[in-house]
Amino acid sequence: MANYRDHALEGASAIDLVVALYDGIIRFLYAAIAAVGRGDAERGRKLFGVDGIGCAKCHAIDNHSAAVGGPSLAGAAARFTVPYLVESVLAPSRTVSPVFRSTLFVLRDGQTISGLVLGETSGKIELLLPNATRKTIAAAEVEERKLQNLSPMPAGLVKTPDELRDLLAYLLSATK
Ligand code: HEC
Repeated sequence: MANYRDHALEGASAIDLVVALYDGIIRFLYAAIAAVGRGDAERGRKLFGVDGIGCAKCHAIDNHSAAVGGPSLAGAAARFTVPYLVESVLAPSRTVSPVFRSTLFVLRDGQTISGLVLGETSGKIELLLPNATRKTIAAAEVEERKLQNLSPMPAGLVKTPDELRDLLAYLLSATK
């Protein structure tokens, strides 16, 4: 980086950099979309499972699996387009269904917690956290709460175009 000013970045504005980054992302997306038909659904099944990336900790894949907090993906192949699925996985907060928005809690001890409210009964609030674990907090501990326009699903779960391709191949074949 020492003499970067002498080279490609000379005169580059922040906008140029953003455009280059955006361009890279779009190319990643289209490569993944184009490759879905060639994906390895069996590998995708493992990635989806609790011993893989762990999508199954938050999503049911069909109407037989137990509800786990996040929206069920049953029938996804018929309900969603491939680009929508890609976007949902890579950028969960782009489109967040209102019922699945995260809530940010500020507790009396100063701690902040953000997660999906699964239920609220007898003074307790049950949350699904972005790391796919559950946490119960006492309503009496809450000083402030705020609905966020953010997904409880973390971005960055999928690391490579191959993983994305295989996951989607599985998702599409399992939810037909
Ligand atoms: C921590 C829990 C959690 C994990 C782990 C998780 N998701 Fe999600 N996911 C959610 C929640 C909550 C939503 C709904 C909010 C939103 O639209 O982002 C969602 C939304 C989605 C949607 C859009 C569904 C719809 O009805 O619009 C898809 C597709 C999806 N996730 C796929 C995946 C895949 C594939 C993985 C694994 C790589 C995964 N998710 C991991 C919680 C999770």
